[in-house]
Amino acid sequence: MQAAIGTPSQLAAAPRGLTAGRRAAPLPRSRVAAADPGDLADNAEFEDKRISVNEAAKQTILTPRFYTTDFEAMDDMFSLEKNPGLPMEELTAVLQELRRDYNKRSFVRSELYASAAAALTGDTRRVMIDFLERACTTEFSGFLMYKELGRKLQGSNPVLAEIFSLLARDEARHAGFAHKGLTDFNMTLDLGCLTSERTYTFFKPKFILYATYLSEVIGYWRYITIYRNLQRTPDRQTHPLFEMFESWCQDEARHGDFLAAALKARPELLRGMRARLWGRFFCLAVYCTMYLNDHSSQFRHLYEALGLEVTPFCRHVITQHNRSVQRLFPEVPDVEQPAFWAALDRLAALNSAAQAIDATSAPTWLKRLRTLPLLERAAAECVRLYLAPTKRCGSLDVEGAGAYRY
Ligand SMILES: [Fe+2]
Ligand SMILES: [Fe+2]
Repeated sequence: MQAAIGTPSQLAAAPRGLTAGRRAAPLPRSRVAAADPGDLADNAEFEDKRISVNEAAKQTILTPRFYTTDFEAMDDMFSLEKNPGLPMEELTAVLQELRRDYNKRSFVRSELYASAAAALTGDTRRVMIDFLERACTTEFSGFLMYKELGRKLQGSNPVLAEIFSLLARDEARHAGFAHKGLTDFNMTLDLGCLTSERTYTFFKPKFILYATYLSEVIGYWRYITIYRNLQRTPDRQTHPLFEMFESWCQDEARHGDFLAAALKARPELLRGMRARLWGRFFCLAVYCTMYLNDHSSQFRHLYEALGLEVTPFCRHVITQHNRSVQRLFPEVPDVEQPAFWAALDRLAALNSAAQAIDATSAPTWLKRLRTLPLLERAAAECVRLYLAPTKRCGSLDVEGAGAYRY
């Protein structure tokens, strides 16, 4: 799921910055039973050293979030008893695909991991640790959400429940792999602590579906773009983990296919004015979050180390993502407009200015005061982006013929 570089998946990659939804209090552990690192250990041979909690416990507007939803409302949407006409054909086909577990043996480490970690120094070492930490957090966040959905839907829609459990399997594997990478740097994340300390952002079920779908798709495009670039420039392969991105992104693509099928099973989520407005909103949230994260100083350095220029990389990923999403969503931002990129550049500059203020030793109240005008300008840019020209697409089929064609 998400959308800094460490946002391959879902809830990960995705709308973590300019998002809607109310912030919920930290959940009691009973509500996030899947958060037990033991669960993850079962799935991903998790190592439990917990040397440090690192920076992952700190949250900013752009850092990976943990999400929760109204599980009963989700059950109402997909219960076979309450929705006897729910189209299950495509979902059943997706389940068959996921059962094959194509990547069961793909995520294998070699001795190169430890030696690559030892060879990294300075800023590149620091950003690689940041990257692994984010990847682990976002994948773990996706694991929690999918695992819980799998449990909640077990009685009402076994097909969907099994799919969510298989998605959780994949995300646990991704999180475990990133976590193993951290141990090469003598670091670990205390996931139990992370789970209980984090606040959970509440999204209604339909927003969870939009957000996770977009997050999975952008995760695919980010990872495949990095992978292909490194295939062309193998001398830039600073860490063997990037070799895994091809298998990794195929998992995210399959997750995206499933979420597209789930959205199509509830076509009211893909047609009409509300769907258009929310589709536009969530796309912009994903694009802004990714653009700002990737243009921040630490990740810019990682891209440079990988031989990528951050702005063309972001433009390519966002453009490809927008083209993919057009096949499903009724409306998307028109990212072909130069004004769209100019607005993102202005937002990135405002974000950098705010980060520079935050890095000073000034008292907190003064930092906030100095950041306020930047926030005002950023909010105005976001409103302008939201009101900018869009593209009508996907659900025109639904609206016209009453039958959706993907
Ligand atoms: Fe993932
Ligand atoms: Fe995923």
